Amino acid sequence: MKYFFSQLFKDPAYVRYAIKKKFISPKSYSLESASSISDGNHYYLQAVIKATNNRKAFSNFKRDPAYNEILEHASHEEALASIEIIKNQTPELITNINDFRINDSVGGARCVEFDGLGMISPSTIRYMKVASDIISLFQNRIGENIVEIGTGYGGQYLILDRAINFSNYTLMDLNEVLELNVKYLESFVLNSYYKYSTLNQLGSEHNFDLVISNFAFSELPRDLQIKYVEKVLSKSKRGYLVMNSGNDNSVFTKGSPRWNDKPLHIKELEEMLPKFRQIEENPLTFPGNYVIVWGDDK
Ligand SMILES: C[S@@+](CC[C@H](N)C(=O)[O-])C[C@H]1O[C@@H](n2cnc3c(N)ncnc32)[C@H](O)[C@@H]1O
Repeated sequence: MKYFFSQLFKDPAYVRYAIKKKFISPKSYSLESASSISDGNHYYLQAVIKATNNRKAFSNFKRDPAYNEILEHASHEEALASIEIIKNQTPELITNINDFRINDSVGGARCVEFDGLGMISPSTIRYMKVASDIISLFQNRIGENIVEIGTGYGGQYLILDRAINFSNYTLMDLNEVLELNVKYLESFVLNSYYKYSTLNQLGSEHNFDLVISNFAFSELPRDLQIKYVEKVLSKSKRGYLVMNSGNDNSVFTKGSPRWNDKPLHIKELEEMLPKFRQIEENPLTFPGNYVIVWGDDK
């Protein structure tokens, strides 16, 4: 029994679940991982590979419990709060909600009825909320070249493609995950053009107008973060990063025992990134989360 529990708490998926359910305090656990918190969850990568290679698994991958440990787990309450923010910031996104519902048409999304909006998944609402923040922070100065670090299945890109005008989007993630992105995105007709790249494959010629990374850059170990700063973040005029590490009270600030070092602290990020400000994550999805923004109009 003791062995069973010791193994259970080595599984990042279980630790995440236990923190969420408040069985354990986030401060008492660090997650083990090879090259990121989600990469350390081998069940997640297995689910990704299965979805990419098996038609039946692809048709329902958004409901796979192993996949849900990392993605597609936005709550109903979070979605209700997000809808109010979107209505305030960018009512046109609500008027055009049918353009965004398309994200639920592939992968077996769990849709819920929202008053006046019909059936839509809380995760699609979350991606709409990020699009709404980006429109209201950067107005019409978003630029033509957007890069996203840690793209999930490409849902944030699909929503942005429908919500704002830009030409090029670079998706950056693990190799296996990028294959799923391609399979997912090729199910749609897009307005913009995309490329995909791992950190190692990105060419040195790249400069970006906007970098986005939600719960992804902040979950990487320090050495990878430093390379992402060097190759991507420092080459981007604007930034929008939802963070769950870096501040003293953030859940992943302690990193993982397998890593040589902790993720970058906010004081270190201040030295390395273009001059940024911190804003609240709204709605707050976990205590200690925050958003880093630079190059906006405020
Ligand atoms: C918690 S998920 C967030 C996904 C997406 N941004 C969202 O909000 O739905 C973390 C993402 O980081 C990705 N990731 C893991 N290791 C990475 C790496 N070394 N480089 C880029 N992305 C990575 C995962 O595959 C996953 O897509």
